[in-house]
Amino acid sequence: MTLSRREFVSGIALGALGTSATGAAAAPTIEPKQKMRAAGAPVIVCAGNGFAYLERGYGLLKSGGDTLDSAVAVVRGPEEDPDDDSVGLGGLPNEEGVVELDACCMHGPSRRAGSVGGVHNIKNVSLLAREVMLHTGHVMLVGEGAERFAVARGFARENLLTEASRKTWLLWKESHADWWGPGLADPSWKERLRGRTRTADGSAVFGRLDGLARELGIAPQDRLAAIHKVLFPPTGTIHCSALAANGEMSGITTTSGLAWKLPGRLGDSPVIGAGCYTDQDVGSAGATGSGEENIKVAGAHTIVENMRHGMSPFDAGMDALKRIVRNYSGDMERLKYVDMTYYVLRKDGAYAGVSLWTGYQAGHPHTIAVHDGTPRLEKTVSLYEGVSQEWPPLIVADKVHI
Ligand code: GLY
Repeated sequence: MTLSRREFVSGIALGALGTSATGAAAAPTIEPKQKMRAAGAPVIVCAGNGFAYLERGYGLLKSGGDTLDSAVAVVRGPEEDPDDDSVGLGGLPNEEGVVELDACCMHGPSRRAGSVGGVHNIKNVSLLAREVMLHTGHVMLVGEGAERFAVARGFARENLLTEASRKTWLLWKESHADWWGPGLADPSWKERLRGRTRTADGSAVFGRLDGLARELGIAPQDRLAAIHKVLFPPTGTIHCSALAANGEMSGITTTSGLAWKLPGRLGDSPVIGAGCYTDQDVGSAGATGSGEENIKVAGAHTIVENMRHGMSPFDAGMDALKRIVRNYSGDMERLKYVDMTYYVLRKDGAYAGVSLWTGYQAGHPHTIAVHDGTPRLEKTVSLYEGVSQEWPPLIVADKVHI
């Protein structure tokens, strides 16, 4: 975390006032392109947090392994990393302090799918979604039933809440923020929020949370990051799509979902067609970002269908982003709170990473990790320049601009 206290505080104010880079962000980035794989090579694309595990998945693909197994090999990396708080072990919990995980997968060659949602105590929900696909006559299992199925299949129950995630959750509790109340799509969102949103000037908010973080024993070097996650709840997530040299494809998405969510909330990640969709005849796509928005445009399915009808991976992804924009009639006051990235892979190996905004935080551009013989991180192409603001907004006392 490189943000200074001063930058952080001014960031709060700018975000709340809507005069940051996002405020003047109506012009689309002109860089309409997707990339091609090295001829005939297998390809893996995934969210940036999977970069360290690309080699493992790619090695499996190259040795003739199954595409879904390769994708799982990538995403289980972050699932098992206690320091990745967007997924699996160490994921940021729901409002009750319980880590609740979601995942779904599609296996192109067999045209099968599996999904789990709201799962407690099982870190590898990517594998669990695959188990549902392989060992049940169902496609989706949720909650307690999914957990019991996991145990029956030999998964270990374990505590997924790390000390770091627990302390950040306690900091959030102390800040008295929550997800009850109006959503972005509520026509009266401004009026309803005015009555209930935390009100303070940026400096006071920072000072109070910094003091609480110290009391909770959050290490000095971790405090800014923890405060940021409290004020701007992240959505985390990793998606991975894999294409073998023989043309077989699969996709998978896994997440701990929106931080501090209401228990039982499902985002897009376990929804086949939203968080992930693979069609062996066409391609594969997946999403990270604002789950509620992506569900409403069935993002991954929309993208694959767009490609089926002749769009390039880039255009197909941009079209899905524009459907989100359309849902808000282009209202930038609201769209600045939406964060969405799509990872798109066509059956011929052409791929694209597209996002609504350049990044979710200054200095943190959205990236797509790619391996087609050479592992690399590429910046996504964004529809708008600037960084998204996380919901719910913070109101600055003397200037209420939401
Ligand atoms: N995209 C992850 C979520 O909203 O839960």
